[in-house]
Amino acid sequence: MTNDRREERVPVDGSTPQGELVAAHWARLSLTVDGAMQALRSRGIAIEQATADDLHGLDMLHMGGLAATDALAEMAALQTGQHVLDVGAGVGGPARRMAHKHGARLWGVELSKSVCQTAVALTALVRLQDQVQFKQGSALALPFPDGAFDVVVMQHVAMQVAEKERLFGECVRVLNGGGVLALHEIFAGEGGPPFFPLAWATDPAMSSLETFDECSARLARMGLSLGAFRDTSAEGQQYHLANMKAMQQALAHEEGAHGRSVDVTRMRLQTATSMERNLRERRLQVAMAVYRRTRDMNAA
Ligand SMILES: C[S@@+](CC[C@H](N)C(=O)[O-])C[C@H]1O[C@@H](n2cnc3c(N)ncnc32)[C@H](O)[C@@H]1O
Repeated sequence: MTNDRREERVPVDGSTPQGELVAAHWARLSLTVDGAMQALRSRGIAIEQATADDLHGLDMLHMGGLAATDALAEMAALQTGQHVLDVGAGVGGPARRMAHKHGARLWGVELSKSVCQTAVALTALVRLQDQVQFKQGSALALPFPDGAFDVVVMQHVAMQVAEKERLFGECVRVLNGGGVLALHEIFAGEGGPPFFPLAWATDPAMSSLETFDECSARLARMGLSLGAFRDTSAEGQQYHLANMKAMQQALAHEEGAHGRSVDVTRMRLQTATSMERNLRERRLQVAMAVYRRTRDMNAA
């Protein structure tokens, strides 16, 4: 199985030098359609009968996988028919889950062209294209009008975007009055600077961490009230430990893990090893937080 995609440079509104590095990183590491199909076949699942559930062991690019997306949707009290935007949607796993399990209508925005194409193709593969759509675009210039969504979800994206005011300003802008922002994000911890490589950054230029308190204070200034909070750092550490074991076992047989090639699995094992240490030493914090838009962003 190969995974030697190179990101085709397609400038989008809001693209930055950091964004280009980040998009290329995820284009190289993310699941491909071929990788997904091979993984399905190896489990004896006929491609034309595959469901969104069959992909979830492969298509969630965040700590905690499916269980974390479900927990976030529950914290946000996601409802049937709600209009939801997934910012930094990756290959679309969380968006498909929220449509399939909760009956929501999803848009996903994804910076990398090839990752976005994979999200579209996997969604068609499991016949959810009427409920879940994707646009290639930047979180710094969301291609939607003001107030378009009931819920905005963001999982593991903000830590690789330096322009935090603009990023969160965009998330709030597209929320309707009373809308909900559901975050599952990675923050700077109290234990000192993290060791590299990080899951999202092989180099410090690709990483822009802030503390949870800094993030929350900004959202309060933007008119959002914190409703629920959960620290998931310990679960994140266990997630990396389990992944390290699975990847070590696969590599011992010269195989890749989770629908990725051997080379990509080797890289992911390195990052999982430093991620586990960073979480154990509290150099990173992972948390879920749900906010409600209670006043206009520009109101005094
Ligand atoms: C760790 S992955 C998470 C993907 C997805 N949220 C999930 O949990 O499965 C981060 C994703 O955010 C995307 N991303 C990073 N910066 C972005 C930006 N400025 N605008 C849109 N997407 C971005 C990356 O290309 C990558 O696919």
